[in-house]
Amino acid sequence: MNNHPISILIFGASGDLTHRKLIPALFNLYQKERLPEINILGTSRSNYTDKEFQDRLMAGVKKFHPDSFQAESWNKFSQKIHYLSGNLTDPADYIRFADKLTNLENGPTNRLYYLAISPEFYTETVLNMGMSGLATQELGDQSPWRHVIIEKPYGRDLATARELNEQIHEIFKENQIYRIDHYLGKETAQNILFFRFANAIFEPIWNRRYIDNIQITVSESVDVGHRAYYYDKAGILRDMFQNHLFQLLSLVAMEAPNSFNAEPIRNERVKLLRSIRPLKREDSVAGQYVGYCSSKGVVDYSRTPTYAAIKLYIDNWRWKGVPFYLRSGKSLKRKATEINIEFQRPPHLMFGLTDPDQMTPNILSICIQPDEGIHLKFQAKEPDSEQNMRPVDMEFHYQRYFGHNTLPGAYERLLSEAIAGDPSLFTRSDGIETAWSIIDPLIKSWEDPSTEDLAVYDPGSWGPDEADILLANEGHCWRMNCGLHEDCIEPEPPLG
Ligand code: BG6
Repeated sequence: MNNHPISILIFGASGDLTHRKLIPALFNLYQKERLPEINILGTSRSNYTDKEFQDRLMAGVKKFHPDSFQAESWNKFSQKIHYLSGNLTDPADYIRFADKLTNLENGPTNRLYYLAISPEFYTETVLNMGMSGLATQELGDQSPWRHVIIEKPYGRDLATARELNEQIHEIFKENQIYRIDHYLGKETAQNILFFRFANAIFEPIWNRRYIDNIQITVSESVDVGHRAYYYDKAGILRDMFQNHLFQLLSLVAMEAPNSFNAEPIRNERVKLLRSIRPLKREDSVAGQYVGYCSSKGVVDYSRTPTYAAIKLYIDNWRWKGVPFYLRSGKSLKRKATEINIEFQRPPHLMFGLTDPDQMTPNILSICIQPDEGIHLKFQAKEPDSEQNMRPVDMEFHYQRYFGHNTLPGAYERLLSEAIAGDPSLFTRSDGIETAWSIIDPLIKSWEDPSTEDLAVYDPGSWGPDEADILLANEGHCWRMNCGLHEDCIEPEPPLG
């Protein structure tokens, strides 16, 4: 890599993503003095002067990140932001973008292109970038690079993702492509690898001999809101599982890479996904919240699932036979992303117990958001009793150790890595295709109109009862151990 300045060209710059996430993230990096010399050029069909565009972005920073706004540094930062209107489908406009960048740049400059546009324009935009020379990168470490960041959704099934990869590879080499999954940018998700591999005591028990089951919950209290037009065609498996839940799964279950570098880490993530046993429809629950069909943008009698729970197995030496339960949904009781690792109960019972189910097992909870941290549930003797015990919690909270507001937003982290030219936190083409190849058959079977097993659930609940039964059939129950304890459900003892 080199130390050249950087230009960032944002396609679709008048959209939400730019003023909600990208510019606030870049502004934070600027204030932390983590940016090299930089130019930011926004483009979209709307007409703005530079000043109008800058003011629009300033309003976004003030609204969505009021704590980080400081007028003096914004005034300096905004001088770096420019705007040029253009049409994604007009090849001549790409020549104008290229000329504008050349005018802004002062010598050799790396370029990062951000596709914050609707996915139907990905291919055309990339082809136009190729034709205009925007993608051309000379060989050699010291030559300025040309990288492109592509947002999700990346395809809507395996075939379209593969086709998209092929089309993009006509213009950009794989090492120029940065596919975003913002869950990989969450500090707490990255910490999973540090927790596992920077400590010696967890890895020896991180396997089928000590772990009974692993659960990943990504629940959201919001409904589909104004995104119903997109969501109704996507559904929960495309929106959340193919990407975010599978990324969390790979981090928690992958083998140790031999170094903390992009390719070894991405190899292990993909290897893990490839070991997932084909999903069975009967090991899954599709749900829809009551009232979804009356949202604006949803077709009449829509069968789009807004909730899913699946049981899966990983066929390798470490995980053979350990069930992994994944669930996610909209309009649930509260927003929470957590990974609960439930350990086996002690092999021999003492303390007056006759049935292992009488005691809560050890549970390690990795709290991704909110109240980021890690908890370990274990048994303690109740004071002043003969042999009564009670599950208690050993807790680590980021806030307590590192202070308030120390966790950067996912986009800040991802942009900072992309600017540094490190693709570790981005998805490789084989990773995307593998994830689609796992989830695609399940999506197809759910979308088969001859089947009628969409469960319903009340908004504000934890999802359909069928998802509890999926676990109860195995003698398990959903665990929630992070966040506000009074809000947590301590599940009923498992059936059977
Ligand atoms: C997005 C999905 O990728 O992730 C949204 O499209 C979802 O539907 C969002 O709400 C959740 O992200 P986070 O960071 O709020 O958990």
